Amino acid sequence: MNDEIYIKKLNIGKVTLENNLILAPLAGVTDYPFRLICRALGAGLTVSEMIHVTALTHKSKHIPTLTMRGANERPYSIQLFGNNPQHFANSVRFIIRNAMSEIIDINMGCPAKQVVTSGSGSYLMKEPELARSIIKACVDASAEFGEAALPVTVKIRLGWDLNSINAVDYVKMAEDCGAAMVTVHARTYSMRFSGTPLYHHVADCKKAVKIPVVVNGDINLYDSVKKVIDICGADGVMIGRAAMGRIWIFNDILRQAAGKRMLDFSIADVIKLIKLHGRLVAAFYCDINGVESFRKQLLWYTKGWYDSAKLRDRLKMVSSADEIDSILDEYIKRTGDTALPLHNTFNVYERV
Ligand SMILES: Cc1cc2nc3c(=O)[nH]c(=O)nc-3n(C[C@H](O)[C@H](O)[C@H](O)COP(=O)(O)O)c2cc1C
Repeated sequence: MNDEIYIKKLNIGKVTLENNLILAPLAGVTDYPFRLICRALGAGLTVSEMIHVTALTHKSKHIPTLTMRGANERPYSIQLFGNNPQHFANSVRFIIRNAMSEIIDINMGCPAKQVVTSGSGSYLMKEPELARSIIKACVDASAEFGEAALPVTVKIRLGWDLNSINAVDYVKMAEDCGAAMVTVHARTYSMRFSGTPLYHHVADCKKAVKIPVVVNGDINLYDSVKKVIDICGADGVMIGRAAMGRIWIFNDILRQAAGKRMLDFSIADVIKLIKLHGRLVAAFYCDINGVESFRKQLLWYTKGWYDSAKLRDRLKMVSSADEIDSILDEYIKRTGDTALPLHNTFNVYERV
């Protein structure tokens, strides 16, 4: 394949993405500031953190924070989770009426205990009839809006466990119900976030339907984009953990695809980016909770930095953007600028 075949525009129903590199929804991570930076640095689509269908329609106080998108964040997808088809339908109507996004995604992959035990997320991989009703309810609710209808997409796993792989049935079902795209995380529920992704099952999914199939799981640099697209023939890739601590990953991939060198970032460059990110977080949340929730990202950014134990201890405690700036300034003054260490994709359960 030549490089243009890997990175290309992607049509999701009536919506066209500039490129087929999608930032995965990551609850607690891909908030407005995070997505804003990923988008500015090349992501073709960004997706909200997962939002519960009843929280959305009952106007929970968290909804504006979770759904807000930037002026340049178009197209944008809102991801819904839940287990009641009627509530999904109401959420779809709510999103379209309020022009909140251009795409609506259904979560059938989250393995978190509280989500699965409530019959949502990955649990739906065990309940094809309920899954079908949910997709159909969303597509039908969207269709009520005629010209203003939005494409509905579905994010699934390969199945519940290795003995019950059913992703091909699910992508066919999604297509049959009128979904415009399916993203497949190439693992089962029981694999959670570890174990080698089984991309060949995604290849089977791609062969089974005409709608776009996006592959997800352990994709980081351009080589892995090429590798998974070669294996699966997928129409695009979704990238999650590789963007944690390396928020410029989309820029790296686009540069490599265009035959350019990856940006030769040094610690001083990354510090500028972290400061910007910190300012966006502080401004967006307007309170200490936002900066507190950013602490984990500060630790991802600074992992492996030279002589950084003291720096990281202090970053664990920050409570304002000014404090982040002065701690980072002191560090660079003390150590001088150095090259950025190699980056490994984080395991979700890894302690940083
Ligand atoms: C911290 C974290 C939060 C996540 N939140 C969501 C979510 O809200 N919705 C969803 O569909 N998947 C969620 N996922 C799964 C990711 O979207 C993605 O499918 C998974 O991490 C595999 O891709 P990766 O190897 O590129 O990270 C989450 C994963 C992580 C690590």
